[in-house]
Parts: sequence; structure tokens; C-alpha cells
Amino acid sequence: MIHLENISKVYPNGTEALKNISLDINKGEFVFIVGASGAGKSTFLKLLIREEKATFGKIRVNGFDLMRIRKGKIPYLRRTMGVVFQDFRLIEKMSVYDNIAFAMRAIGSSEKSIRKRVPYVIEMVGLKGKEKCRPNELSGGEQQRVSLARAIVNNPKMIIADEPTGNIDPKMSHEIMKKLVEINKRGTTVIIVTHEHDLVKEFGGRIIIINNGEIERDEILPTKYHPSDMEVAEK
Ligand SMILES: Nc1ncnc2c1ncn2[C@@H]1O[C@H](COP(=O)(O)OP(=O)(O)O)[C@@H](O)[C@H]1O
Ligand SMILES: [Mg+2]
Repeated sequence: MIHLENISKVYPNGTEALKNISLDINKGEFVFIVGASGAGKSTFLKLLIREEKATFGKIRVNGFDLMRIRKGKIPYLRRTMGVVFQDFRLIEKMSVYDNIAFAMRAIGSSEKSIRKRVPYVIEMVGLKGKEKCRPNELSGGEQQRVSLARAIVNNPKMIIADEPTGNIDPKMSHEIMKKLVEINKRGTTVIIVTHEHDLVKEFGGRIIIINNGEIERDEILPTKYHPSDMEVAEK
């Protein structure tokens, strides 16, 4: 579902953020993208969602050729993915409930299905009781979880998360990661950018290390969590 061939990204100021990257990510994979600050991780994600266009190379995501896609078609690409942004990007004048419902309204879901689905995802990310709050009434970690709820609410084929545990305490990080594993086990491709090596070691899966715009390592570590473990842990 993701295919990159000799992709480079040079920003207008001359910074070469990604250099000749080639990789494939298949349906159902659970992938960590790891690297130091400034390594090119966010740039990589921005290419996948076509917020930035690659300078050279070939890139296909969920059936779209991102070197040739027209602007008007980009929303259709984005509907195939749920994105958790590093800076959340919540709508300040909307409540938690409406921020999440907005994503469903944008794709034309019925009010009936919204009333059923939104409370379910709010509960899932542990924000029950905060439905009426505005983003500025929430902590960073709570805003991050609203952003996660919004990313998963439409059941996308793929979830892309930029540092989704960056503002959350270790216990909540763990919970969020387990939710992402659970979503992955139901068939959704999950791509997570993080600099938290402990989480990566603990959860395993495919680890792609980006260093200075290049892929330094791409390997698969054993995964520790399986759905059966989680059911036991939750009882
Ligand atoms: N819009 C931009 N214009 C110019 N340089 C940028 C821009 N965005 C990122 N960069 C540079 O590209 C490199 C990679 O940045 P980024 O992808 O944000 O790294 P990471 O997410 O791994 O911290 C850095 O050197 C950064 O300064
Ligand atoms: Mg970043």
C-alpha cells in the first residue's frame, strides 16, 4: 500500500531532508519510524499524506501516484488514512465531541452513526467526561488523545501517527500503544513515528531507523503483544 522508490525531498531553502529513500510498507504492517530530531521523520510522514511533495523519485500510497496526483484528489487520498499530527491540529472553537464528529461529518456519515461511534472512540482513548471541553481546556496528553480519536473514528485503512505518545505520561503511552496494536490486529496498517526507544523495544514490529535523511536500518523485532494477552490484561 506504500511504495517509495529513490525518493528525495529538498526543501526550498536547500535542506535535503530525505535522500534516496526506497521502501515498501504492506497492508496490515505495524511500523515504527525512529530517528533523532531533525532526521527526516516528519518529512517522511508529510510525503505520505501529500502535505509535501517529493522532489525526486516515485511514491504510491493507497493506490494514488503522489508525484502526479491533482490537488482536487488529495482529499480522497487523505480519506484512506487517519493522521495524528505532532501538533494535534484540533479545531479550537469546537468541543472534543465535535472535533471528532467533524471527521465523520466531513465524509458524510449519518448523525445516527455519529451518535453511536463518537462516544465509543471517546471511551476508547480514555476521554469520557471531557466531551464538552474545548481543546484549550485540556492537557497536552488529552489533546493528543482527541487527535488519536479523530484519526481512528472513520476506521481508516491506515493510521499514521507523528509522536502520538510525545506528551503523555508512560502509563497512558502504554495504553495508547496497546490501542494501536489492537487496531492493527484488526487489519489496519499502523505507522508510528517516535523517538522513544523503550516503546519500540517493548512493542516490537518493524523498525525503520532514519538517520540524517537516510534509512540506516530496517528490521523486524518480535512483537510482544497479541490480542489474547490484551484481553487478559484488560480483565
Ligand atoms: N518546511 C521546511 N523548510 C525547510 N527545512 C525543513 C522544513 N521542514 C523540515 N525541515 C528540515 O528538514 C530536516 C528534517 O526535518 P523533520 O522531517 O521535521 O525531522 P524530524 O521529524 O525527524 O525531527 C531538518 O533539518 C529540518 O530542519
Ligand atoms: Mg518531527
